Amino acid sequence: MAKMWEGRFAKALDQQADDFNSSIHFDSRMFRQDIQGSMAHAAMLAAKGIIAQADADAIISELENIRQDIESGALPIDMTAEDVHMFVEAELTRRLGDVGKRLHTARSRNDQVAVDIRLYLRQEAKEIVEMLQSLLEAILFQAKQHTTTIMPGYTHLQRAQPVTFAHHLLAYGMMFTRDIGRIQDAVKRMNYNPLGSCALAGTTYNTDRYMTAEKLGFDGITLNSIDGVSDRDFCVELLSAFATVMMHLSRFSEEVILWASWEFKFIELDDSYTTGSSIMPQKKNPDIAELVRGKTGRVYGDLMAMLTVLKGIPLAYNKDMQEDKESIFDAIDTVKQCLTVFPPMLKTLKALPENMLKAAQKGFINATDLADYLTKKDVPFRTAYKLVGQIVAYCIEKNTVLEDLDIAEYQSFHPLFEKDVFEAISLRRCVESRISAGGTNQASAEEQIKYIENFI
Ligand code: ARG
Repeated sequence: MAKMWEGRFAKALDQQADDFNSSIHFDSRMFRQDIQGSMAHAAMLAAKGIIAQADADAIISELENIRQDIESGALPIDMTAEDVHMFVEAELTRRLGDVGKRLHTARSRNDQVAVDIRLYLRQEAKEIVEMLQSLLEAILFQAKQHTTTIMPGYTHLQRAQPVTFAHHLLAYGMMFTRDIGRIQDAVKRMNYNPLGSCALAGTTYNTDRYMTAEKLGFDGITLNSIDGVSDRDFCVELLSAFATVMMHLSRFSEEVILWASWEFKFIELDDSYTTGSSIMPQKKNPDIAELVRGKTGRVYGDLMAMLTVLKGIPLAYNKDMQEDKESIFDAIDTVKQCLTVFPPMLKTLKALPENMLKAAQKGFINATDLADYLTKKDVPFRTAYKLVGQIVAYCIEKNTVLEDLDIAEYQSFHPLFEKDVFEAISLRRCVESRISAGGTNQASAEEQIKYIENFI
């Protein structure tokens, strides 16, 4: 495709250099935003008397036709074009002649691309937030059924204290509510109009950047034209938020994988979200969760790539910045893929409460509660804690557990033990007596569910 800028050159660009330079194969996905930005720009140029209203009207209606033709497939994107901006403008000029050539007045591709990517990311961020809301729905669907289902809670992957399955799932719910907040915060800071910054220094025309800002749904304008075309902080911020979403999904996936193993068997994944083995007939593998865990690495890589691309470039625009797109597009595609399969996988899995309970029993998971029993009878906590340590050692030696000692044995350790100790260390009591706000009791789970519902 002929270059707009060829006037200055005696020779055409080398073919391979041209391919290397071109971004059309990845930035063509922004064609709608490019057209939207150009329409606002044309309307502003006419409103300020910079071009004739009739020309602006022709440009705007032809841009609309181009959009429809790309969408319908009638106008295939020319992959030999330099980028989406050149492609749309060249097509407009092909259709309108000289009128089309007026569009780029008081604009540069530098501010054009800065607008396009902001508009594009704003839309994608909105879709990702909606997908996170579906994930929250899936978490609540499971949590609501399991506010009294007891499972072992872990620290160091060692059985620690009993919790409910709902409480454990709702911990992930909290993470994803923060992820929504992080994405929305980043969008808030991004949502300023760079159009009118032009190449880097602004323009000699009396433009109205507030008018284009309003037409494009921005909250205001960028206040420094050099910053307007050089800033990609919003890509870093969004990538960081997406990397955090993936980190949370990856931790969740890791647990799903563990829970689905024969060693745990806390859950059964639905057949529609598992795969078999080509050799071992018995296998039912949690591939979906494993792939989500694996894809986390890609998104971390995208964030690192973006930071590294930006670290050494001087102001203002440099072609390095074209590299922003592949990273952030890859991260968006990956996060969306993961958020398409993870919620239904979660929603269709079956919890196995008996197995969870079995794992919670007989593992000294109630030892803290035994210490608290004595502490509530005014034994200092450290003394009680040490004594319970000795009781646990005694049980291990005798190959028994706290529930199976008799009262005489308890009393041989401390005279304040009474028959009600057995009730105090029952798992149900352990869970329900964790009455502190945000603890694992049922009322807290219900409050958490209500809190998360506000995000959906
Ligand atoms: N394709 C370019 C990009 O994505 C558009 C901006 C090009 N500007 C320039 N002066 N070469 O960054």
